[in-house]
Amino acid sequence: MHSRRALLYMPGDDWKKITKSLTLGVDCICMDMEDGTAISRKAEARAIIAKALQELDFSKSEKLARINSVGSGWEKDDIEAVLPYHPDGVVIPKIESLDQIQWGSEIIEAAELRHGWPINSIRMLVGVETAKGILNLKEIASHPRLDGIIFGGEDFAASIGATRTPGAIELLYARQAVVTACAAFDLQAIDIVTIDFKNLDIVRAESEFGARLGYSGKQIIHPAQVEPVQSAFTPDDEAIAYAKRIVEAFEASQKEGKGAFVLDGKMIDMPLLKNAQKVLERAKAAGK
Ligand code: COA
Ligand code: MG
Repeated sequence: MHSRRALLYMPGDDWKKITKSLTLGVDCICMDMEDGTAISRKAEARAIIAKALQELDFSKSEKLARINSVGSGWEKDDIEAVLPYHPDGVVIPKIESLDQIQWGSEIIEAAELRHGWPINSIRMLVGVETAKGILNLKEIASHPRLDGIIFGGEDFAASIGATRTPGAIELLYARQAVVTACAAFDLQAIDIVTIDFKNLDIVRAESEFGARLGYSGKQIIHPAQVEPVQSAFTPDDEAIAYAKRIVEAFEASQKEGKGAFVLDGKMIDMPLLKNAQKVLERAKAAGK
């Protein structure tokens, strides 16, 4: 699975921002036809994203296209406009049921067959950002084409009538529901956008909190957010060294026939081993 510590959006009709995104070393570039694009500019966004997929070198950054939601009336033209140029993946926002994922997956599979591309070579991520989406997470997360679920905090707050606060306590239940569903189905969990993009302390703190909740990455909207977000979702050297010590000490203690043991004055047993292994997996995925 492609690393997606930061998933950077830009309006799909903005050629300049798309070319700028190629210079940022960001894990994942998501050219948007949905809410970042004005209603009057959907056709331009489709054409410009198609051109970008054909002409630009995304190098190590993943190239995704976000279509409008299923039922918006734009979704079919959006997806058909980009599929012939093989994006790495398609993002479908505001997913509320398995049927809606199935709709996208069938269209993608038809394109894969038509072009002779391997089945499932175009991945899918979905936004879950409404009350219905949260209630149906179990069925949504089970779809085999999915790589991850993106939690849309602003849309979710609007969906339930919550008032957004800096600490995002009003989002906590849904934010944890998404991360839990992702863990159950081995998916990436991509956290909320920090809209106060000029304040890098806020994006850093929010990223660290998201990482502590178990998220593997975060949506971003501005170049300045790339570095703080990607580093927050990369285990630091100290965490990696400690995780390695746990793994080694665990193996040694198992050989001695001991389950639980003590490291640095703390009890270590199986759940701590699993957590340490997760840290090492994330470090490896981030190229460390
Ligand atoms: N992707 C790539 N480049 C971006 C970018 C983005 N999301 N946002 C800004 N830039 C570029 C600008 O083009 C500018 O480039 P330049 O220095 O080469 O001229 C540079 O970064 C600095 O931009 P800045 O002037 O600070 O921002 P802005 O006022 O032009 O734009 C936003 C602010 C919020 C409108 C813009 O960041 C944006 O459109 N973000 C994405 C919004 C979106 O897609 N929302 C939907 C998903 S939630
Ligand atoms: Mg949204």
